[in-house]
Amino acid sequence: MPDIAAITRDGKKLTFPCSGAASVLDAAEEAGYYLPSVCRHGRCGTCHAHVLSGAYELAPHEAKLPPGPGGVLLCRCRPLEDLVVELPCRDAQVGRRQLPRRHAMLGAVTTAPEGWTSLTLHLCPEGEFGAEADFAAGQYIELRLPGTEIWRPLPMANAPNLDGVLEFLLPPGADTAWAAAFGAIRRGTKLQLRGPLGSFTLDEKSSRPRCLVGGGAGLAPVLAMLAHLATSRDRIRVHCVLQAAPADRPFLEPRLAALRAALPQLTAALVTANEGMALCAELARLPAADFYAAGPAPLLGAVKAALQALGNPPGRLHLAPTLSTEPAAASVMAHA
Ligand code: FES
Repeated sequence: MPDIAAITRDGKKLTFPCSGAASVLDAAEEAGYYLPSVCRHGRCGTCHAHVLSGAYELAPHEAKLPPGPGGVLLCRCRPLEDLVVELPCRDAQVGRRQLPRRHAMLGAVTTAPEGWTSLTLHLCPEGEFGAEADFAAGQYIELRLPGTEIWRPLPMANAPNLDGVLEFLLPPGADTAWAAAFGAIRRGTKLQLRGPLGSFTLDEKSSRPRCLVGGGAGLAPVLAMLAHLATSRDRIRVHCVLQAAPADRPFLEPRLAALRAALPQLTAALVTANEGMALCAELARLPAADFYAAGPAPLLGAVKAALQALGNPPGRLHLAPTLSTEPAAASVMAHA
């Protein structure tokens, strides 16, 4: 089995074995080293590193490789022999604590006529965690499809709560296969979870107004943030811009109305993917705001470009990671 020597930026050496089938990222975790990562499927680029010596192969990936010889994504990198890897982080940034692992019972799985599927889980009371749903609005968890090794990252769509309820939203289209896979699981089935994960969360120390933008799978974290602001009776001005097709409006409008009832300072706008000007105009409504955006890459790109054009300081924009929906739909169906 190849051995990996991973050198941190401050010169610490982490050594661990890696079976030929595992990625370097998975092998590091197996050994108790939690390296920076988000999507785990070659999409976000967070796990970038450089191989200094040794042969390896790279599984398909969408994110760009870091420049220079030996640039790799550790979640897609499999060693063919011993490797020496240079990590872009300091030793203190390498996690040593295992991700919290929990269990939850599958509750309702309902698909609205517009194609959106809502998934509810009820956390099982467990040791140090109790039964509560303790996470920060905007975070996600990984959910294991029963009987498989397939983990699906899903952002929560509800606020943290003491009742142990987790709600998720699967948009129509790309997620139809996942919705069918979860729909085929018997209600009450015990599922494995790991997390919460992710740093796309509200800066609650800031007193600036907030502008939240969401589309597709990014609607869930935005709705979770709004639900959290509502339950915590926040009074800072908040504007949300949801990118949705006209057919999605009947699904989204009642949710927005319920949030507005609890969050009177909330204003909201729905725009379609083709309304770049409208998006820009909505972002310009709160020029001194903190901006939060979650959704498909073109939406995040449009938000970035619009804020740049508006002269907004870059530090005020918080972007959600693009979560992987792999493996492919066919594979999900095969395991459902
Ligand atoms: S964690 Fe490796 S590319 Fe996202």
